[in-house]
Amino acid sequence: MLTVAVLISGAGSNLRALLEAARHPDFPARIVVVGADRDAEGLAHAADFGIPSFTVPFRSFPDREAWGEELGRQLEVWSPDLIVLSGLMRLLPASLVSRFAPNIINTHPAYLPEFPGAHGVRDALAAGAEQTGASVIVVDDGVDSGPILAQERVVIEPGDTESTLHDRIKPVERRLLIDVVRRIATGDLALTP
Ligand code: GAR
Repeated sequence: MLTVAVLISGAGSNLRALLEAARHPDFPARIVVVGADRDAEGLAHAADFGIPSFTVPFRSFPDREAWGEELGRQLEVWSPDLIVLSGLMRLLPASLVSRFAPNIINTHPAYLPEFPGAHGVRDALAAGAEQTGASVIVVDDGVDSGPILAQERVVIEPGDTESTLHDRIKPVERRLLIDVVRRIATGDLALTP
């Protein structure tokens, strides 16, 4: 059984979908812990499912490196086979990425390499794109630049706002994420550095 740690910053709706999938006895992975870089609303989902959680507040550390050190220490307590960044709005320091590589994956609300970064949905709208998408990637040292594991297009409708578009992207992200975690767990999909 693949053990998974999930890291979040926000509402955690994708986390909740993964928790629901992983609750099914046939699902080949288990979420063992949820972590956050702040007092994230989404930590409540972990509590709902009886999953332990921890917070390593970014602002309590002098720099990204020190924060990453502590995050790594917390993660290692659980020895996860896979770490899922599900709306973690923080760049991991390279030292933390190399500690767990290639077993860190990230979901992103755009069709990478288009529109990387913290505002993937907003940037697609601002560019006047006709379509965007959702991606699941392996985390490397760059910003949303790792190998793509799965992705799918989402059409931008006239009148879309950041919020309406993001609401249509998220269900696609969830489906891709759950499928990628399943394929990693069954050995269908191998993560390579
Ligand atoms: C998701 O759309 C995720 O892809 C995005 O934050 C959202 C989190 O939603 N992450 C990024 O933009 C990372 N660059 P949630 O907290 O409701 O799951």
